[in-house]
Amino acid sequence: MYQAARGTTDILPEEQPYWRFVEKAIADITRIYGYKRIDTPIFEDTSLFQRSAGEFTDIVQKEMYTFDDRGGNSLTLKPEGTPAVCRAYIQHGMHNLPQPVKLYYVSPIFRYDRPQAGRYRQHYQFGCEAIGDDDPAIDAEVIDIAWRFYKSLGLANISLQLNSIGCKECRPAYLNILKKYYNKHANNLCADCKTRLEKNPLRLLDCKQASCQNIAEKAPQSTDKLCPACSAHFDQLQKYLGLLEIPFIINHRLVRGLDYYTRTVFEIQPEDEGGQSTLGGGGRFDGLIEELGGKPTPAAGFAAGIERIILNLKKQNISVPMAPALQVFIACLGEKARDEAIKLAAGLRKNGISVVSATGDKSLKAQLRQANTLGARYTAIIGEEEVKAGTVTLRDMAEGGQESVDVKDMTGRLASSQ
Ligand code: HAM
Repeated sequence: MYQAARGTTDILPEEQPYWRFVEKAIADITRIYGYKRIDTPIFEDTSLFQRSAGEFTDIVQKEMYTFDDRGGNSLTLKPEGTPAVCRAYIQHGMHNLPQPVKLYYVSPIFRYDRPQAGRYRQHYQFGCEAIGDDDPAIDAEVIDIAWRFYKSLGLANISLQLNSIGCKECRPAYLNILKKYYNKHANNLCADCKTRLEKNPLRLLDCKQASCQNIAEKAPQSTDKLCPACSAHFDQLQKYLGLLEIPFIINHRLVRGLDYYTRTVFEIQPEDEGGQSTLGGGGRFDGLIEELGGKPTPAAGFAAGIERIILNLKKQNISVPMAPALQVFIACLGEKARDEAIKLAAGLRKNGISVVSATGDKSLKAQLRQANTLGARYTAIIGEEEVKAGTVTLRDMAEGGQESVDVKDMTGRLASSQ
């Protein structure tokens, strides 16, 4: 028997109310902050993602779904949304618009990760990118959007972790200091960290191996080595978060898993859990547009994993609006009744009333059971008697009573019952 591919899930009808609830919150939050929707293709040139995330990141080394198309082009299913939005910004000359350009997306994302609760090979992200401004007020705005978004969903006990990892001016000196420190501990590092020390020293700080914790905890901190401009930027950001009344924890080990970040990095987590459950993250990426062939353009943004949000909505017993109930199920007995049922269903639907009609020749009992399972508010029963009289027997599935209603009065009767 076929199963959904490992790490992918079906979003079944009973799950859909959670998705509609989150989508509504996305539509509301992006509207009130003035972000416009962008949809980019599911796949892009492989090199777009390699150049963005960085060659020595997990995403590029281990997680991309890359394939050659029949024309011999190397393409990759989107492993994140940011590079695609930057590519679109450059391609469509958006630097000619008033800056910053504020965009958001909701998109499937593909990562060949080890599947487990909250970690999938296809997941969905809601992301926001503000491109074209280096003002720390923009960093504060994207954090504010993320924070208010989770709050608007009713999520409690979330925490915001914040760090600044400097810019291309001050980071090299910090990395040297970090490497010197780690070199002293090289013998005690895990195998991955030994490679990181060579290829991507910043990632040493977020190693999850128990043996590396103590070393990482005592490592030199990037915020102590920021240049004056980065330091002032970080101070301003913290001031703005204070004005916005958003509590944050400075986490010196927060570096994120993508190489394009400059200055601000942040993550939002459910308070009682570790990295696996991170609800969203982002930061500033002032060099990315230029790296991808555009003019030097500062930018900041974040993305939130929708499946993880829904897991937390369920964990916290947050109720979401249910899909509107089916208004009427039409049950019928006999050929003539079937003809009437087809006409009645068409007439009701023309008036916007939701209808499911029985098919086949099930017993009345089986038809009523079906109406019940579908959650129908009413069942309209048409038998021989009703056909003759031009009526239906309308059963109230919630209250249990029933009444005879003229077929021609059905639209009015059901519309007023909503
Ligand atoms: P990211 O931290 O890699 O950032 O992913 C964003 C969020 O997507 C995570 O915090 C998590 O909630 C969710 N997520 C990531 N991987 C998985 C997975 N395998 N299964 C389920 N959920 C997952 C980015 O992708 C950046 N592009 C964010 C950004 C936007 N930075 C600046 N602008």
